[in-house]
Amino acid sequence: MTTNGPVPILFDVYGTLLDTASVTRACDMLARGRGEEIAGLWRAKQLEYTWLRTGAGRYANFQAVTEAALRHAVQAIGVRVTEDALSALSGAYLMLDPFPEVASALTRLRGAGHRLGVLSNGLPEMLGPALARAGLEGLLDPVLSADAVHRYKPHPRVYAMGPAALGMPAAEILFVSANGWDVAGAGWAGYRTFWVNRRGAPPEELEVSPSATGPTLDALAEALGVGGPNGVR
Ligand code: LAC
Repeated sequence: MTTNGPVPILFDVYGTLLDTASVTRACDMLARGRGEEIAGLWRAKQLEYTWLRTGAGRYANFQAVTEAALRHAVQAIGVRVTEDALSALSGAYLMLDPFPEVASALTRLRGAGHRLGVLSNGLPEMLGPALARAGLEGLLDPVLSADAVHRYKPHPRVYAMGPAALGMPAAEILFVSANGWDVAGAGWAGYRTFWVNRRGAPPEELEVSPSATGPTLDALAEALGVGGPNGVR
């Protein structure tokens, strides 16, 4: 990936820096052996609700959407849970684990002079504690939340926050996400994009392609000419 020196990079958070599947163990405590199913449906419904609410102009904040999606997921799977268990599980979303390579890759990118920030659907009060717990807080500025425009990705007004905050056109900013549809949304909004294709998914058929793709953030760092985890270039 060719760049003229360091570029500002905006990262998606959920699924890109933080592993949404890390709630699986907590979900498994609700219904033994079904944690993966609950966590998967929870995440799928959460995204579906963000798209539906944005499409219909019915914004509710990401915490509320996340809780509603969980409530639906447990009912769909037929698990009976108490309100206390539901709120404990919603709380687990504030404590998602980062993917293993994230802190070191971001540290190397920062060290190489790239400005790093995030552009996420999450509420500031969800992002702050989650990024701090993952040890990433000091590396990321700005932390941009879709809540500021009361719409979710892929609405163009969400992606427009990046150029507004950084004071440069989207074409000069690199947007990084593991969510293929989010990469497409950012591409439509004019960003250069890097798709962290963690699961080897097929490309989205949306008539827009990522500028570059790799399996992890280490691959992103390498694509930008920043040495690998052991300092290997
Ligand atoms: C986010 C979701 C899309 O962080 O992963 O914005």
